[in-house]
Amino acid sequence: MKPAHVAIIMDGNGRWAEARGLPRRAGHRAGVEALRKAVRNAGELGISWLTVYAFSSENWSRPPSEVNDLMGLLRLFIRRDLAELHQNGVRVRIVGDRDNLQPDIKALLEEAENLTAGNTGMNLVIAFNYGSRDEILRAARAALKDIEAGRTGLDALTPERFGAYLDTAGIPDPDLIIRTSGEQRLSNFLLWQAAYAEFVFLPCLWPDFSRDDLAAAIATFSERERRFGGVTAREAAL
Ligand code: FPP
Repeated sequence: MKPAHVAIIMDGNGRWAEARGLPRRAGHRAGVEALRKAVRNAGELGISWLTVYAFSSENWSRPPSEVNDLMGLLRLFIRRDLAELHQNGVRVRIVGDRDNLQPDIKALLEEAENLTAGNTGMNLVIAFNYGSRDEILRAARAALKDIEAGRTGLDALTPERFGAYLDTAGIPDPDLIIRTSGEQRLSNFLLWQAAYAEFVFLPCLWPDFSRDDLAAAIATFSERERRFGGVTAREAAL
């Protein structure tokens, strides 16, 4: 089966630039190009949900100039690509903590969500200033607040109800998580949501991520046997 929701950790921009003797900024710029293509390819390959990790809550520890570059690229991506995404029926959602973002970035994120809210094509979820532990903690605080105020009971807090407090409320869990650049870790990405995700780690650096890489990852996923903690129909019959 094809994955309905593919999430990508776009890693390796820095190494891509370094290998060419270019500044890291050039790697991130090439990374945005790869992102544009990935959105288009995911749509064409019939993926309904695509989530990309664009800026983690830990990325603030990078040098200020690099943080500025990444903020600038998000601005550029939304300003330049929003109209086209909208035209193609893409619905954009942002996950992550917006509180400490610059006001103009907050406004752009809201604009992207509001403009595309009624679209019924592919869903593009941008994880920006996102970290799972932060997300889970914010959700736990919100849930406790509701419990304290008597709006809900402690026993009513099931995994499903808790999920509704997360930034990803209403977004299905990822079926497939891809990470480029050879690293094999989640780096605080979708920890709750990845409970039953399949992982595909690719050696290529993010700017080199091609349509063939995406198609191959989807094919690998299709060969996997997902059991969600149970047994397969074949095993159950034994
Ligand atoms: C990892 O490369 C990538 C990121 C830190 C963020 C991903 C960002 C983009 C694809 C471009 C920005 C897009 C938007 C919409 C803001 P790295 O710098 O960690 O690479 P390295 O591990 O080789 O140094």
